[in-house]
Amino acid sequence: MKKRGIKYVVKKGNQFYPSEELKKIANITDPKIYTQAAKDPIKFWGDLAKEGLTWSKDWDKTYEEKLPYFKWFKGGKLNFSVNCVDRHLAHPEKTALIWVPEPKDEKPIKISYGELHNKINKFANVLKTNGIKKGDVVSIYLPMIPQALIAMLACTRIGAIHSVVFSAFASDALKARIQDGKAKILITSDGYYRRGKPENLLKKAKKAAKRTTVQKIIVVNRIGKKVRGRKFLDFDDELEKAESYCKPEMMNSEDTMFLLYTSGTTGKPKGVVHDTGGYATQAYWTCKWNFDLHPEDVMWCTADIGWVTGHTYAMYGPLLTGATTLVYEGGPDFPNPGRWWKIIQDHKVNVFYTAPTAVRMFMKIKQNWITKYDLSSLKILGTVGEPIDKKSWMWYFKTIGGSRCPIIDTWWQTETGGTLINTIPGIGPFVPTVSGKSFPGIKHVIVDDKGKPMPKGRQGFLAQTSPFAPGMLHGVFNNHKKYVDTYWKKFKTMYDTSDGAYLQDGLIRITGRTDDVMKVAGHRLATAEVENAIHDNRKVGDVAVVPMPDKMRGQVPIAFVVLKRGKPGKKLEQKLRKYVDIKIGPTARPARIFFVPDLPKTRSGKIMRRILKALLINEKPEGLMTLVNPTSVDKIKNIITENS
Ligand code: WTA
Repeated sequence: MKKRGIKYVVKKGNQFYPSEELKKIANITDPKIYTQAAKDPIKFWGDLAKEGLTWSKDWDKTYEEKLPYFKWFKGGKLNFSVNCVDRHLAHPEKTALIWVPEPKDEKPIKISYGELHNKINKFANVLKTNGIKKGDVVSIYLPMIPQALIAMLACTRIGAIHSVVFSAFASDALKARIQDGKAKILITSDGYYRRGKPENLLKKAKKAAKRTTVQKIIVVNRIGKKVRGRKFLDFDDELEKAESYCKPEMMNSEDTMFLLYTSGTTGKPKGVVHDTGGYATQAYWTCKWNFDLHPEDVMWCTADIGWVTGHTYAMYGPLLTGATTLVYEGGPDFPNPGRWWKIIQDHKVNVFYTAPTAVRMFMKIKQNWITKYDLSSLKILGTVGEPIDKKSWMWYFKTIGGSRCPIIDTWWQTETGGTLINTIPGIGPFVPTVSGKSFPGIKHVIVDDKGKPMPKGRQGFLAQTSPFAPGMLHGVFNNHKKYVDTYWKKFKTMYDTSDGAYLQDGLIRITGRTDDVMKVAGHRLATAEVENAIHDNRKVGDVAVVPMPDKMRGQVPIAFVVLKRGKPGKKLEQKLRKYVDIKIGPTARPARIFFVPDLPKTRSGKIMRRILKALLINEKPEGLMTLVNPTSVDKIKNIITENS
């Protein structure tokens, strides 16, 4: 008999709330926390930072704001790796990380806090031996293997700044990020397993590192490829040789801890800068309250460490709270669609955090692949990355959660470092498609484009007000102008999220991006990045990329191409799609490319993507009056109809 599991939710009216069982164990249950925090948010965060983290020196000032910059815990000192690992060493045997390799014949590995401490210290010494000092940037291009976590934490031990690049990104994308950060060292692997096949990562890494600042490449041996050359070091050999203790570098709270590149509206990704103390405070408390994480819990966040969700919830949050994190190397449906659910059963996962895209994918398979596994260990289900529709929410709730686990729809961004808008499990309510309230001590408003509050229930722009959340970005790496233009130009004294939202019964419902950024299978991608990649082909004269709604992936990119030379056709379409794979990576590959004679443009030459979007979903486009070439619209419409 399969276990049913504890019921953590109850239905009141047509809304779900935490059950008494959940309230009994939850880290926080009193809704008064919102009003208490709002009275003095700075003091509130100061108290949380003190209670949650280990500091080597108290701060002089809790918050200082000189917009567009602000600092948390100024003068305070701490080391991030000490907070993630050393302070849990009272129980060195406790499992910090469960790693599940993709190949079925390889056994999962458990790494205790004691072992993790040892490896981080050793690898920190490897970095030091190779000339890495406080403030240097280290590029990490690794798949979901324990060495990724070890390398990242080792950087934080010595105050080096890590810049992790998603392993499915192409070599050009990696190169651009290495160059922007001027990284001296690149840490990568020979490859990884994906859907039963070894993928070669080193080839891409080598190509990217050519003619850059990278002096050494440290390579993890994952698929058994031999690496030779003066520039290369073997991860395990170096670890073996290294001293086993590395004194942690005490960092200022506001010192940069990591860079993470993300898409904005232009083609060039920007390096979002995160600090140490503020980020740590938010990662710790959001894990504890939003996922109700306890030290005895196993949390599985399925996001790759190449994205912010992977940083904060597959790694740092669970470790800061002394819980166990689970990391899985491979494809969600390999060797069969039961893989994920078997992992939950085998490792008794309590908190499961994934993206709506994954939920939608599993809704389509034979449900027996899921229901045959015992999922009774689950307590909290989370979702992130894009709006989740009601049908998917209900399916997730019923099929994965057995109608007994709250669904926490967390809204946040690479820039915010941690979750900012969601319902807290011990408080409720859990409403399909609605994210919830701003985290205690943080305030969002919904405004018009002048920053004036929208009437209740009306859709507007989502903005954050002062004091800004401790986990927020502290700039764009070496690009003050970009930081100001992107986040502070529109509202001056409020942070512009670039998302739309409205209030529903006092709770925030997110409607999606208001700029030219797509969310493809939950991955953030600027239309301009895809356009640049396609433009690089000699035959292309002009190109516009727009997102089209997709049942499975949320949105997919669609390209409209005007050719300079060559013949339109399936063959060229394939070729250009391949181009995007090589320049950015398969995530960005356009689902379709339409060859058109002209793109709708305004008198000033601006491409009207809005019109293309409307045509794709068969809506009547508006604003044709402003076009220099209104006849282009009907032509494009016909081409879409003929080729769909
Ligand atoms: C979107 C991912 C609706 C939003 C953590 C945001 C969401 C962008 C949600 C950031 C959600 C994230 N509901 N939309 N729960 N969570 N988004 O930087 O448009 O990859 O601006 O960070 O994802 O994407 P990013």
